[in-house]
This record gives sequence, structure tokens and C-alpha cells, in this order.
Amino acid sequence: MPWEADTKPLWAETARERSHGAGAFPTVRMRRNRRAPWLRRLVAENRLSVDDLIWSIFVVDGENLREPVPSMPGVDRLSVDRLADEVGRAVDLGVPAVAVFPYVDPAVKTPDCREAVNPGNVICRAVRTLHEAFPGLGVVCDVALDPFNSDGHDGLVKDGIVLNDETLEVLCIQAVVQAEAGCDVLAPSDMMDGRVGAIRAALDEAGFKDRLILSYAAKYASAFYGPFRDAIGSSVALKGDKKTYQMDPANSDEALREVALDIAEGADMVMVKPGLPYLDVVRRLKDAFGVPTFVYNVSGEYAMLKAAAAQGWLDYDKVMMEALLAFKRAGADGILTYAAIEAATLMKKG
Ligand code: PBG
Repeated sequence: MPWEADTKPLWAETARERSHGAGAFPTVRMRRNRRAPWLRRLVAENRLSVDDLIWSIFVVDGENLREPVPSMPGVDRLSVDRLADEVGRAVDLGVPAVAVFPYVDPAVKTPDCREAVNPGNVICRAVRTLHEAFPGLGVVCDVALDPFNSDGHDGLVKDGIVLNDETLEVLCIQAVVQAEAGCDVLAPSDMMDGRVGAIRAALDEAGFKDRLILSYAAKYASAFYGPFRDAIGSSVALKGDKKTYQMDPANSDEALREVALDIAEGADMVMVKPGLPYLDVVRRLKDAFGVPTFVYNVSGEYAMLKAAAAQGWLDYDKVMMEALLAFKRAGADGILTYAAIEAATLMKKG
């Protein structure tokens, strides 16, 4: 009947949505479901667990080093000999994987980024150590040239231009070298075109058909990476910005294209980065593709909460857990975060 159709709210397209629209106060009281903790637990739609966490850590050449990163309170760069102790805490807490990033001495950085493909570099040594000490732990490595580049960019630079295809050749060797060291998940974060396909082919050819690619598919040119660039020492080297390869924060349709391409090229998992200001992108990607979708709770997001908490303006534990849960609500399957140990410890306490 035509008049019946008119009684439905315009947005009521599915049976589920129609039921949301039915009824009104005082018959309906939304607060009933929030009355007590047991009830809130029963009706919770999303849950954070330790299984959702990848712990991001920094490694540095040298011995017995633990160097605090000033713009990331609570985060240290660790020398490889101190890695097993620290990562052991994560393993004991049940964190499934770690992502390792290198600090490289400025004297070792070159325009051809040769340290990136050195099988004895600090990343490869860290991966070997972790692989041996914790065979059941997933190890994720960034594939990008910025920590090793005297130009500070993720790709090779010539006459001020970040070269795409020439960079791919180096990235492929870097990925294979990391796989040889025992890296399980290669995570290209460089945003060069065609890199997922090129890296997949290089890994397959080198006999690493079982290694995964976690593509930083929707990676934005963001000022939220500032503290990370301090941590890996690339802020001093970086000339200009990364806007010719990382995405414009104004765009989200473009993220769908990036992800579609990366999946076609063989990405096993995709990532959105940064996290909190880009939750809409996480939701769109998860809805559109349904592939394992990760989100990077980046250094600036971590620093903001720590800084506000240090002023006494925010309750760190509460805002941090709320932010991590928000990633789950947006549709993320997992979260790369510097707060993984803190979150896992809090969850264990219950
Ligand atoms: C670089 C890389 C960056 C991050 C991860 N890999 C920084 C950048 O693109 O400049 C950022 C992580 C963070 O801010 O926590 N390949």
C-alpha cells in the first residue's frame, strides 16, 4: 500500500534498520541495556583483545643501548642484544607480532640506500635474533628506503624527484634480504606505484612464496609521523615533504583504488595510516573489500595522548584503550601501536 511505504523512515532500507526505527520513548528506553556492567558486557558490539595488537619497536646499532625517544615518552631504541628481553615481555603477554624499525647512523646513509640491502644491517640482525628466540612470534618489517637514505625519502631521489621504477628494484632486494633473515610479513610503506606486485614476484622467485605482504595501501602524507621521524633519525635528512607519493588527506575514494590495486598485485593484508584521523577510511575499506585490514596508530597519535597525560589533562590508560577500541569499531582487524605492551598489560589485569 502506498501509504504504508510513507510510514517508513526514508533511511529504513533493511529489516534490521526498520527495527531500529520502531518504537519510541517511554516504551523504548535505551538506557536499560546500559544499566549494569554485566549487561554492557553482553551487548558490547566490539571487543579489543591482545590478538589484535602488533607492537612497533625501534632498533639501533651498538651494544647494551636503550635510548629514549624524547618525542615518544616510554618508547626506546634498543640495541639488538637487548631486544630479546624486551620482546619477551610482549610474547609473555600474548602479543602475536612485532613490527621492527631501524635507527641508522647518519654516516651510513647514502643516496643509493645501500645499507637497506645489506643482509647484516640492524634490521636483519634484529629479525634473526627474534626469529631464533621466539619462533612463534610474527615479525613485520617495513619495506622502504627512508631510514637508509641521506635524502630522507622512501625512494631514490634524482634532481629532486623521487624515482618510482628505479626505487622498486631496491625495494625488491630489500624485501628478499629481510625474508632471508626470517621476516614473516613484508610491509611496503613507501607508496611507490607497482611495488606490491614487484615485491611479490621477487619473493616468489627467491623461494619465499609463503611470506606475506602487508601493504601500507592507504598511507597519507601526514604530519602525525613527526615523532617517528625523530625516532628513526630521518627528520634531519628529509628535504621537503612526501606529498608526491603519499596520499592527500583530502581523499578517500582514492584509497579504494589504492587498495584494489594492491590486492590485485598480491597483498595479503592492507593498512590504513595514520589511524585516528582516518577511521572513516578504515570503515570504507573494510566494507568494500573485506580483506584483513590493519591500521597504524602512529607516533603522533601516541605522543598526543602521552603529552596530554603528562600535563594531567587526560587519563592515559583510559584514552589509549578507548582509541584502540575505536579502531575495532571502525572495522580494523589489527592495530600497529607503540602502546601494545601497555594495552596488553591492562587487558591482562582485566
Ligand atoms: C616510512 C614510515 C613512516 C612510518 C612508518 N614507516 C614515516 C613516513 O612515512 O615518513 C610512520 C610511523 C609512525 O609515525 O608511527 N617508511
